[in-house]
Amino acid sequence: MSLTPHRVLLLGSNGYVGSQFLCELGARGHEIVAPRSRELNLTAFDAVIAALREIKPAFVFNAAGYTGKPNVDACEADRAGTLLGNVMLPQTVSQACAALGIPWGHVSSGCIFSGARLRQEDGTVVTLKDLTRPSIREWVRQHRDQVIGFTEEDTPNFSFRDGPCSFYSGTKALGEEAIAHAGQGYIWRLRIPFDNLDNPRNYLSKLRTYPKVYDNFNSISHRGDFVRACVDCWEKGIPWGTYNVTNPSFVSTAEVVDLLRKTIDPNRDFQFWADDAEFYRQAARTPRSNCVMDPGKLLRAGIQIRSVTEALEHSLADWIPA
Ligand SMILES: NC(=O)c1ccc[n+]([C@@H]2O[C@H](COP(=O)([O-])OP(=O)(O)OC[C@H]3O[C@@H](n4cnc5c(N)ncnc54)[C@H](OP(=O)(O)O)[C@@H]3O)[C@@H](O)[C@H]2O)c1
Repeated sequence: MSLTPHRVLLLGSNGYVGSQFLCELGARGHEIVAPRSRELNLTAFDAVIAALREIKPAFVFNAAGYTGKPNVDACEADRAGTLLGNVMLPQTVSQACAALGIPWGHVSSGCIFSGARLRQEDGTVVTLKDLTRPSIREWVRQHRDQVIGFTEEDTPNFSFRDGPCSFYSGTKALGEEAIAHAGQGYIWRLRIPFDNLDNPRNYLSKLRTYPKVYDNFNSISHRGDFVRACVDCWEKGIPWGTYNVTNPSFVSTAEVVDLLRKTIDPNRDFQFWADDAEFYRQAARTPRSNCVMDPGKLLRAGIQIRSVTEALEHSLADWIPA
């Protein structure tokens, strides 16, 4: 429970991420105003200003956005909707907040990056966008501590400015640009959410239902840990700005599959795509982001978030089937 409960505005409260904010903010005793999209047009500046004037929130949590269902391929088929949800919407909300001096937090994504930075033997650091080549994959496995995640200082490299990228990722990067200087706010980068609740949106559930699994390296975010960390940012009053909110370190899909086999899926025969070419030929329409993120800025600001291994192990130990 927060020491000082506040009235907050929560956008996207019925979504996969927003519903977790609803639980967390409620558990901390805050008064939550959570309009649905049909009740408040979040891309109409005048409507948002009027709502803010009426509600007078101490903070606005924006978990509304356009993700594409069942996956980002769907965004290619509705580009206008994707642009509206991921660029116009956060821009309108943050500008309205800025005009009235209300601080805000926006859920962005780590999917605006691809690959990782690798420290070579001579100490030089190279950025590789694609870690799937067999030789690179092996190098990463043997030199985990030489893999450096992208920081908030790095420019997105899976975006319209540095393509190719998916239309979804392009709009998420553009959305960050559109709001970066609007008043006082946080941009929280979420990456591949998972937890212990079986759900079509949960990364662990997804891996269990794919006909074949795409092996790659990623930093990922436990949904509850992510939301706790975001709310902590506001409650603790850490400096405004962008934060990578992923559980520290990274995992390969093969490692997660191993954990699934050891826990809830001992008898499942997981199949892997042979390579990128097969995956993109048969299973995906648009490029996927796979990347390693560095949450160091968040940790240095005093926000705690457990390691990815711990978060995965606890999720599988407490697994609740749908
Ligand atoms: N899930 C992921 O894997 C993931 C990963 C990284 C980042 N993110 C980001 O996290 C945020 C939430 O994602 P999610 O997975 O929770 O999505 P979700 O389950 O699809 O929920 C999206 C929410 O946004 C609202 N929304 C969408 N378009 C809107 C519009 N034009 N006007 C008003 N509200 C609108 C929806 O409200 P209605 O249902 O009322 O329309 C819903 O509450 C997004 O910004 C997404 O990019 C998600």
